[in-house]
Amino acid sequence: MCGIVGYVGRSEAAPILLDGLRRLEYRGYDSAGVAIVDGDHIETRKCAGRIAELGKLMAAKPPTGTYGISHTRWATHGKPTDQNAHPHFDASGKLALVHNGVIENYQALKDQLILDGDRNFSSETDTEVLAHLIGKLYDASASEAPAASNGNAAATLPNKKGRLVDAVRAALRQVIGTYGIALVHSDIPDFIVGARRGSPLVLGVGKDENFLASDVSAIVAHTRDAVYLNDFDVVAVERDKFEISSVAGEAGNYQLSKVEFTDADIKKGDYPHYMLKEIFEQPGSVRDAMRGRLSPEECTAKLGGLNMTPAQLRDVGRIVLTGCGTALHAGMIGEYLIEQLAQIPTEVEYASEFRHRNTPMTRDTLVFAISQSGETADTLGALRESRRKGYRTLGICNNVASTIARESDGGVYMHAGPEIGVAATKSFTSQVAILTTIGLLLGRMRHLSTSEGTRIIDALEALPAQIEEVLKLSDQIKAIAKKYASVPGMLFFGRQFNFPVALEAALKLKEITYLFAEGHPSAELKHGIIALVRPDLPSVFIAPDDAVFSKNVNNIEQVRARKGPVIAITSGKGAKHLAKIADDIVTIPNVPDYVSPILTVIPLQLLAYHLAVELGRDVDKPRNLAKSVTVE
Ligand code: AGP
Ligand code: GLU
Repeated sequence: MCGIVGYVGRSEAAPILLDGLRRLEYRGYDSAGVAIVDGDHIETRKCAGRIAELGKLMAAKPPTGTYGISHTRWATHGKPTDQNAHPHFDASGKLALVHNGVIENYQALKDQLILDGDRNFSSETDTEVLAHLIGKLYDASASEAPAASNGNAAATLPNKKGRLVDAVRAALRQVIGTYGIALVHSDIPDFIVGARRGSPLVLGVGKDENFLASDVSAIVAHTRDAVYLNDFDVVAVERDKFEISSVAGEAGNYQLSKVEFTDADIKKGDYPHYMLKEIFEQPGSVRDAMRGRLSPEECTAKLGGLNMTPAQLRDVGRIVLTGCGTALHAGMIGEYLIEQLAQIPTEVEYASEFRHRNTPMTRDTLVFAISQSGETADTLGALRESRRKGYRTLGICNNVASTIARESDGGVYMHAGPEIGVAATKSFTSQVAILTTIGLLLGRMRHLSTSEGTRIIDALEALPAQIEEVLKLSDQIKAIAKKYASVPGMLFFGRQFNFPVALEAALKLKEITYLFAEGHPSAELKHGIIALVRPDLPSVFIAPDDAVFSKNVNNIEQVRARKGPVIAITSGKGAKHLAKIADDIVTIPNVPDYVSPILTVIPLQLLAYHLAVELGRDVDKPRNLAKSVTVE
């Protein structure tokens, strides 16, 4: 978790670092800090709270200097206090380091440092231990032979620089855990070192200036040339050059990539929040998820990125879909979709469980790791475990340069554009659209007829315009949110394809309003949840005009009989029917059941959004959360 930004160039580092942090704030926002080297000393500003607090500190006493590092934190070890905010220093006070990840063996390393006489720790973090370890190894190397003599990749760097890179490598070889790091040393001008394992780090290559960042959105305003570092890469960055080697000391390979999006893509525009902007982007993002992937001539989908031959696709006997949070909910819809369209047994696994539970798998199992960010540690762990066992593992990712995208055997990109709001919205509908195309492709290799294939393609192609229709209901949903602004929570119910939508709606509400919320299959109501029903706790039913509509109506009546308020999301004949028995209804276009989640979820995203605004919540940066969870 967390965001890192580093800069070395000719401009003042402070505004560049602060602006970069603002763009990464979605990644973590417990505390923030910068370390900028000013001549022979390091100027640090850091504090608990949001980047805005750090901005005030920096404005009160602006640090000057043309190279430095910065961090926005999502605490894993130690409370979000000023003291625990990054950067952290080594014992000499000359080396400052920022870190994203977890040093799992930090206690053992700390015990050893203490035994060696270093007691000067000022935080509770795992990160500070790494700063001390690197500093100690660097200082010790001063009396040893110059780095140039040891024949490794750092040999091209002059003495102090080479020694620092060597110290970083030697320290990281002792580390168990994950890291994306950036560090500076006040004795070494215009020089930053970065390294990664498990946490993302990208090098931005500019003209007479270079950048390090957890995510390109921090630097895309300055450059669109980027090198996405690989695990175990160590990079020595100067104004006009950089050198990549490995933790083991070998010279590294790298590829320069062009960043796909521009600075404008990551601006809020006229929207008050990223979340609302991203909800409203869904006609386009769903269209982009399907663009070029539907073949009306062959009545099927074309997914070349899967890297599988028709024979291999035909031989798939079982599918496992894995992910976390919203991506998992999309996977749950995928299970219904693939089983209905292709009749291939499909299971959904929490990525965090899958990777540890040795689920029995047949040889013909195909695994999909679903992740917007492509960096979620639990999902990455599941992907690695699956590949280690020899299963073909594909990714459904939004971030094309992400670790999951790079480590999978193939997959499908969402092309949804950057999703900045911590609550996932457009990525969900893109994932469901892609899973529908996968169901279509596999179904057409089995029992689906050409006319059924054509019907599915027509239903998919109609979606963007239908989403536009649903978005027009935003004001109506806002009024509903106002009406229920003082409720203690909400219950969500749906059946079949819309059961996972109930889970997703509950997650959205919890995340951004902090209200209690649960999602359940509608029929489960009578098996226990009905005990919660009371006049001030609304039940939201996702009850479109589908094969289970009348069953949903039964469940709505059961809630009504116990004086529970009912909000219904419905379509077709449901509008007339439910107008009589529900307190509030939202009517959306009537579509086939397998595409309905893409429409039903949107009023629920809007309900959570408007309620959160009504309650004065920080919609884009809800408490305790962060966008990509790169720790376990
Ligand atoms: C969704 O609103 C959440 N913020 C969260 O559950 C998220 O979906 C989950 O952490 C997975 O993220 P990913 O898609 O980037 O892997
Ligand atoms: N483990 C470190 C800490 O708790 C880094 C957390 C992060 O990635 O922000 O400070």
